[in-house]
Amino acid sequence: MTNTTPVPPAPAGPGHPRLLAWIAEVAEMTMPKDIVWVDGSDAQRQAITEQLVDAGTLIRLNPELRPNSFLARSDPSDVARVESRTFIASQNQADAGPTNNWREPTELRAELKEVFAGSMKGRTMYVIPFSMGPLGGPISQLGIELTDSPYVVLSMLVMTRAGSEALELLGDDGFFVPALHTLGAPLGDHEADVPWPCNDTKYIVHFPETREIWSYGSGYGGNALLGKKCFALRIASVMARDEGWLAEHMLILRLTSPTGSVHHLTAAFPSACGKTNLAMLRPTIPGWKVETIGDDIAWLRAGADGRLHAINPEAGFFGVAPGTGMATNPTAIESLTHDVVFTNVALTDDGDVWWEGLTDDAPDHLIDWLGNDWTPDCGRVAAHPNSRFTVRADQCPIISPDWEKPEGVPIDAMLFGGRRASNVPLVMAARDWAHGVFVGATVASEQTAAAEGAVGSLRRDPFAMLPFCGYDMADYWGHWLDVGAELAAKGVEAPAIFSVNWFRKSADGKFLWPGFGDNSRVVAWALDHLDGKAPGVANALGVVPAPGELNLDGLDLSETALEELFRVDPDAWLAEADLTEEYFGQFGDKVRPELYDQLATLRANLQAAKD
Ligand code: GTP
Ligand code: SPV
Ligand code: MN
Repeated sequence: MTNTTPVPPAPAGPGHPRLLAWIAEVAEMTMPKDIVWVDGSDAQRQAITEQLVDAGTLIRLNPELRPNSFLARSDPSDVARVESRTFIASQNQADAGPTNNWREPTELRAELKEVFAGSMKGRTMYVIPFSMGPLGGPISQLGIELTDSPYVVLSMLVMTRAGSEALELLGDDGFFVPALHTLGAPLGDHEADVPWPCNDTKYIVHFPETREIWSYGSGYGGNALLGKKCFALRIASVMARDEGWLAEHMLILRLTSPTGSVHHLTAAFPSACGKTNLAMLRPTIPGWKVETIGDDIAWLRAGADGRLHAINPEAGFFGVAPGTGMATNPTAIESLTHDVVFTNVALTDDGDVWWEGLTDDAPDHLIDWLGNDWTPDCGRVAAHPNSRFTVRADQCPIISPDWEKPEGVPIDAMLFGGRRASNVPLVMAARDWAHGVFVGATVASEQTAAAEGAVGSLRRDPFAMLPFCGYDMADYWGHWLDVGAELAAKGVEAPAIFSVNWFRKSADGKFLWPGFGDNSRVVAWALDHLDGKAPGVANALGVVPAPGELNLDGLDLSETALEELFRVDPDAWLAEADLTEEYFGQFGDKVRPELYDQLATLRANLQAAKD
């Protein structure tokens, strides 16, 4: 039986035959009850919101406390990205590399067609035209998400520039990334729906050569908002490799020093390791000013002057709630006063939200993220550790006036880091680009709740891209080396690269560094170093602040803590170098000799430090 659901006329433009044919083909396969174009209008957004409130997916928060804001509770099984079900289906397995789940594309496509058959029955299929990056910008890209989740529609309207304007830009034969999403929860006639439909079987599939995304079974975050990790990182990283640019898991910020010098920097930290916090940094040292440009993803390309320029391809923040409070990230708190969708946080008795870390003391009573009564002594968390807020970027009080500059901002410095209880110093400058690529390639980090897996276990997460690179990781490092070589060949200054670690712990398990606003001290040193005002001193790893260069005024930090923050244990590092060699080994001869040269230098430096 074929589905006869007609594709309604597009709300804009003369029609794009390839797009219309794809929509018809998907409708025939998934059999939705109807098809709706998402036009980006307030009226449509409000209607979808009302529908979600009626369905019980969204709970309206107290309008006097949090106007136009909602709480969603996901199915308890659908709370984070599913890396084990995320696939890169490149033609050749070698192109996906040893760190991705590879599937043979023809076979997987056939399997998916069966899985997707009838998957939207009883539901509306929404067509979401969207732009990653400012509409029509030279670095921006267009996509179309087809989804049967109205929650995803609302989220995409926040997280991307979605609607008729993006469709118009497509014209009648423009390039777009087709991104197909279904909850995998068809509804029978008269069958009652559940607040958070999903399926225990999940597939998050990328076909890098054809730039396609197929996502099945989850309604949550990066599994379902396909513009984000699927497009802007996994597919875009492949486009970037082919076209000579960079698609990165990086925040972007602008920093103005007390003397008025302006710098832009990016930072790549793994999921739930502090990007949103750093992007919204409130400096604790006087005279420094931060403006936010992006909190999760950066697309970088050479600008007219040859330097690398970055845009934030997103239009909103999908931020970690727990740990976000006035003491840690006041900028985020001030961004969340209205028009927010919260997912998997707790509900207060007066109809507002709460999560661990929002306030020092928990309310006496809450409804937890599972919908159960909660009291402070019940022994459970009230909010899921990966609970999130979804909010437009322009609600951020320190959003840069240039955050939507289509050509992006020139990048002066890049930070790499992760969660490391030991070994990795608070800050270190790489000696040059190749050393910086080595530093990025060897990042390891303790796992967080942003993906399934054991929280706290240490794993390699090079460039914070382990779950997000759409091709072989060693080829990706090679691409980074090539980008640096091209900048050098043009005589253009490449961004300076630094390693940072906010998470080093003392023997008794406490964070040694206060973090958050005080990270401004570290960033200020990095920029002073860049400007030649803080030359630093070389150690076995790189260049660290010389005594007195790191501004510690007004900070209650003991001399022992400071020493421990920068202590290099040669034996521990030599052991880490052995692990790096083993790690590189799995990529075979794809690892460039430059990176083995860096490893040899590191070992020699450590040996010299020991002797
Ligand atoms: P994704 O959205 O998953 O990519 O995460 P992210 O990298 O944006 O991390 P985010 O800024 O949301 O921080 C995640 C968690 O780390 C939160 O609980 C923060 O409170 C905590 N965190 C952020 N910065 C610091 C810091 O400097 N020190 C400490 N101790 N914790 C931090
Ligand atoms: C991350 O895990 O890095 C996130 C959240 O930013 S998600 O969109 O779910 O990937
Ligand atoms: Mn992220």
